[in-house]
Amino acid sequence: MTIGDCKLIELPKFLDQRGNLSFVQNNAQIPFVIKRTYWLYDVPGGECRGGHAYRETEEFVIAMSGSFEVTIDDGIEKKTFLLNRSYYGLYIPKGLWREMGNFSTNSLALELASTNYDPEDYVRNYEVFLNLKSNGEI
Ligand code: TYD
Repeated sequence: MTIGDCKLIELPKFLDQRGNLSFVQNNAQIPFVIKRTYWLYDVPGGECRGGHAYRETEEFVIAMSGSFEVTIDDGIEKKTFLLNRSYYGLYIPKGLWREMGNFSTNSLALELASTNYDPEDYVRNYEVFLNLKSNGEI
């Protein structure tokens, strides 16, 4: 997978004076079945999260509140996406290095994942990632 396979996806948005509503469904707005959700919150200023790749996991990341940046690296190119609205998100296929940073105060990052948690799915060493990428193993 390359950066070109990452996509910002706009979600349905029901504007209402009582408050707006958006949603995500399996295999509809996002191209996988959600097996797990987790979220990042209370991130202190200046901190970074991520800093790894997944062998199999696909993810969709939404800024439910506030803003942050997601930098994707396919071993050749890097691209930074700003997420700052709750009606769109970033689809990240497997096999890409990701880092998240520049979290605003009170930001909330919701992550939808295609797999259950498995530490074996992580590649946490950047040199190992580059090797796997250049061998076509990830
Ligand atoms: P990690 O994925 O390393 O966080 P980040 O990518 O933001 O730096 O996860 C941090 C810790 O949380 C790690 O010890 C494992 C645990 N964890 C789970 O138990 N289940 C999960 O679904 C996730 C994402 C993390």
